[in-house]
Amino acid sequence: MKLLITGASGGIGRVLREGLAGQYDLVRLADVVPLPVPPAANEEWIHFDIGNLAAATAACAGIDCVVHLAGIPVEPRENAWEQLLHANIVGCYNMLEASRLAGVRRFIFASSNHVVGFYRRDRIVGLDALPRPDSLYGASKVFGEALGRLYADKHEISVACLRIGSFRPEPEDTRQLATWISPEDMVQLVKRCVDAPTFHFVVAYGISNNEGGFWTNRGIEWLEYNPVSRGQDAAVRLANAPAEDAIARLFHGGSFCSMNFEGSPARID
Ligand SMILES: NC(=O)c1ccc[n+]([C@@H]2O[C@H](COP(=O)([O-])OP(=O)(O)OC[C@H]3O[C@@H](n4cnc5c(N)ncnc54)[C@H](O)[C@@H]3O)[C@@H](O)[C@H]2O)c1
Repeated sequence: MKLLITGASGGIGRVLREGLAGQYDLVRLADVVPLPVPPAANEEWIHFDIGNLAAATAACAGIDCVVHLAGIPVEPRENAWEQLLHANIVGCYNMLEASRLAGVRRFIFASSNHVVGFYRRDRIVGLDALPRPDSLYGASKVFGEALGRLYADKHEISVACLRIGSFRPEPEDTRQLATWISPEDMVQLVKRCVDAPTFHFVVAYGISNNEGGFWTNRGIEWLEYNPVSRGQDAAVRLANAPAEDAIARLFHGGSFCSMNFEGSPARID
């Protein structure tokens, strides 16, 4: 099994690299910024920009499974559309098209919980919920999931879309008690998707074993993702954390919902 990890120099990429070390024949690490630690014996390094299809295709040569993390991981405060268009829209298309051109059979996409951010917190959402993005960032991930579905159905690439919650060493605010995914669970989730027997298309919420979570992975027990970390263990430490604003606390997406908000909460069922 030969893996390509895009965005390998980033926060999740660094943790996956360490957590998956020595378990596959090759791990090719690619990013637009240098790796913090030089490549080891069964690793390769490629400097590339996912905005360039030729570079993306070269990065996919000989690869069995792409773990696509590269992108803008937040709602940018300035030039949001231009930044997201390049990295999350064009870049995601390039990585899927490059995978098709290079004969890659499996594609794991770092989607986000912000694809369903405008669901209300009193509603637990499953894997078949309609998209309800809370930001241009969330909408860019909806695009990635839709493109993944297209490439699964039309080009028979197995695609997993991971709606990652809040990836941190520890929950940092009260919302993250519900949305947290620990580094250990993140590694497990990606590894399950890499190692699982053939599948067609799957969506999974990237969350730890948190109490009071907003999302359920019911229906994909076959993936055998069994998170071990528990957000609630940080609850005492966060008892005096600042309260969320009036919009953020209504919806799954928290502060992504209140950013630039001009709507009427009463109309958002
Ligand atoms: N961290 C989280 O809590 C979280 C939650 C939901 C989804 N995600 C998604 O997971 C992925 C990884 O997140 P992260 O927290 O590691 O983010 P990060 O910013 O730490 O890492 C992203 C990496 O992508 C690289 N990158 C950006 N644009 C690129 C380009 N044009 N070409 C090549 N590389 C490029 C960056 O250099 C960076 O190393 C992102 O797609 C993000 O949207 C993260």
